[in-house]
Amino acid sequence: MFESLQAAQADAILGLIAEYRNDPRDNKIDLGVGVYRTAQGDTPVLDVVKRAEQMLVDQQMSKSYIGTAGAADFNSAMQALVFGDAGPTDRLATIQTPGGSGSLRVAAGMILRASPDASVWVSEPTWANHVPLLGGAGVTLKPYPYYDTENHVIKIDEMLAALRMAPAGDIVLLHACCHNPSGLDLSVDDWQAVADVVVERELVPFIDMAYQGFVENLDSDAYAVRLMAERVPEMMVATSCSKNFGLYRDRVGTLSLLAADTAARDIVSSQVNNLVRSIYSVPPDHGAAVVSLILHDEGLRGAWVTELAQMRERLIDMRVLLAEALAEKAPEHNFSHLARATGMFCFLGVTVEQIARLKKDFGVYMVNSSRINVAGITPDNVNYLADSIVATLRNE
Ligand code: LMR
Repeated sequence: MFESLQAAQADAILGLIAEYRNDPRDNKIDLGVGVYRTAQGDTPVLDVVKRAEQMLVDQQMSKSYIGTAGAADFNSAMQALVFGDAGPTDRLATIQTPGGSGSLRVAAGMILRASPDASVWVSEPTWANHVPLLGGAGVTLKPYPYYDTENHVIKIDEMLAALRMAPAGDIVLLHACCHNPSGLDLSVDDWQAVADVVVERELVPFIDMAYQGFVENLDSDAYAVRLMAERVPEMMVATSCSKNFGLYRDRVGTLSLLAADTAARDIVSSQVNNLVRSIYSVPPDHGAAVVSLILHDEGLRGAWVTELAQMRERLIDMRVLLAEALAEKAPEHNFSHLARATGMFCFLGVTVEQIARLKKDFGVYMVNSSRINVAGITPDNVNYLADSIVATLRNE
């Protein structure tokens, strides 16, 4: 059977992990996969996670199955984190999922069950895995304009125009904050305009929130989710705890489905649980149990908010540091968009050839779209990084 297969292409983002690891150069810099790093280049387990894990080990009495929806205490805490204390709980079904990707995969299955002819509109560009993940599940995808690669601004008018052409019932995938890959988010006014079009055209918002807490704070970063939840009868929200709890490999996320009323919510809930059983049966428990402990304990929650703020502030500092270093070393180029972006990513704005040279000659790794993960920048490597970029741009 397998002799009919050809080797698959390495993943555009995850493929860089091995390439970087195998590079023997001491001064190499990893701006590839989106994980947080300290100024020492580590991706440590958060202190608060370590504490909660210890509590879990001491307290946990059983590892028996919980069920397709995961743990109710985790789901209710996450629902409140995402939708706020005044969220429409009577219309919401929230399940625990294996990370944000697991959530997206279940959402794709729900789209195929509920509305198989609907298309999902995705930003151009969007997270590199959105397309294979959702498209691979069988959902039809259509692009809407988002990022102006020349001027490094959002094409809001073109985005709105494209969405105005979408047929009623189509689904719009939106990034709640820290747009991946561009790092440029819609303003409050833009979100209001998008919500107007969504309501007017009877579209279904599908919001991916993988970076809650990385722009400003937990509440304001959830603005788009809460705005849409107030204005539409139905929506879906995929969340991830990979970044804000640093639980990447433990696979922790949620899928929330907002239905028109409680009776519809109960039907949706039965369908999503039935679907989960046919995909991965039950979600992994450990990371979600840790998150639940943190969110339910005032002391742990406060410690988490502090650690989250430290990660956020380091990312902001590193963006500014690189933008300033480039402004000084290459005043003929405008890199001001680096400091305007939020979260982990932004586009450097260099060509595929320049990206290849940065890797080959300088050991600087980034994905081929020129998306960089600013967590890979440190006060120690920023000068080397800026010099490498400038030398590459000047073809020196
Ligand atoms: C990224 O965009 O780099 C992260 O979300 C990791 C991934 O799975 O792609």
